[in-house]
Amino acid sequence: MNPAKAVNIEDLRGLAQRRLPRILFDWIDGGAGDESALRQSIADFAATRFVPRYLAKVASCDLSKRLFDRTYDLPFGVAPVGYAGLFWSEGELAMAKAARRLNAPFVLSTSAVASIEDIAAVAPEHSWFQLYPARDRAITEDLIARAAAAALGALVLTVDLPVPAKRERDIRNQFSLPIRYSARNILDGLAHPAWTLQWLKQGGLPKMGCWAAYAGQGASAERIAQFMREQQYTPQSWADFERYRALWKGRLIVKGLQHPDDAARALALGCDGIIVSNHGGRQFDRGPTPLTSLPKIKQAVDGKIPVMIDGGVRRGADILAALAHGADFVFCGRAIVYGLAAAGLPGALRSFDILADELKRTLGQIGLLAVSDVSPDVLWG
Ligand SMILES: Cc1cc2nc3c(=O)[nH]c(=O)nc-3n(C[C@H](O)[C@H](O)[C@H](O)COP(=O)(O)O)c2cc1C
Repeated sequence: MNPAKAVNIEDLRGLAQRRLPRILFDWIDGGAGDESALRQSIADFAATRFVPRYLAKVASCDLSKRLFDRTYDLPFGVAPVGYAGLFWSEGELAMAKAARRLNAPFVLSTSAVASIEDIAAVAPEHSWFQLYPARDRAITEDLIARAAAAALGALVLTVDLPVPAKRERDIRNQFSLPIRYSARNILDGLAHPAWTLQWLKQGGLPKMGCWAAYAGQGASAERIAQFMREQQYTPQSWADFERYRALWKGRLIVKGLQHPDDAARALALGCDGIIVSNHGGRQFDRGPTPLTSLPKIKQAVDGKIPVMIDGGVRRGADILAALAHGADFVFCGRAIVYGLAAAGLPGALRSFDILADELKRTLGQIGLLAVSDVSPDVLWG
């Protein structure tokens, strides 16, 4: 599939839908419950209007953004997405390569196919590690030690999964990992031959890189996936947070907090940054959208640490909306993953291109030459 023909992220979504078996596309595309949090997160961004400013002689535009001690060439990066190596062979490596090439951050999920070490070999300067703690404490501690040994730039602790979500598309599709070779799934695969050929060529289910070391010597990919599932959804407390803080000497970022008191507590306990997120509407259908909780979290941490955001970005103008509402950086999940699932590395690069191009055009309309000049003044109303 030629991703260059995609004009916007929705086109890439369509290409991804055509290539992927339904069971996988729905897993990416869907949300919890009625999917109202998913829809509303997108709608909040789309509803944001900006003040046009003309005769500002906007010729070129600088999209660079400083975050922690680095200057990235773009104000957005790749959010952690589990199982991305199932959408495209070595999918996480492709997204990390795209991020490195464009000088943007990439966050590796604990549920990725690529391992911490694989990612460190491909994009050492641009990768962070997202932690889902395991039931077995020793595994969690080892994951943290591996991320430290690989010198990844930050540990991102995701906290918004106290219980498994009710994602109804997945229930109906009987999504599970390892994927079952049921008659229905085989038919689904046959109807999507491009994906199925790649799947067969890579030898079926790949080994989940972060977990392979813990599932027993010589464990099959199926056993590793099973083991990973058994270890997930570990109830977490603030005491656990303090333990991770003590274990991880680098930058610790919390992803998924939406209450200002939680943000203030995380800050007091030594957190270095927050990603305001509703997990792309995948966990809690009745929670707030990230754009509405962002100002409250900003206020709670009072400029002491960066506050980033993800959830619902589908347009370059959405990135501007996030920055104008006070986000210090933006992360994209599906917008990049649709490109990846459509066409691998060129597809992920196309996603980045589309978002950056739309962002530049929007900045031009509001008379700004640089992302660093964005302020709440650009918001209409
Ligand atoms: C298919 C998929 C898998 C995800 N897996 C993870 C994960 O493993 N860890 C995590 O912290 N967040 C995960 N997320 C949530 C993303 O990091 C991010 O919060 C969300 O995608 C943002 O919404 P957006 O997709 O609208 O950009 C996942 C999201 C999707 C779409």
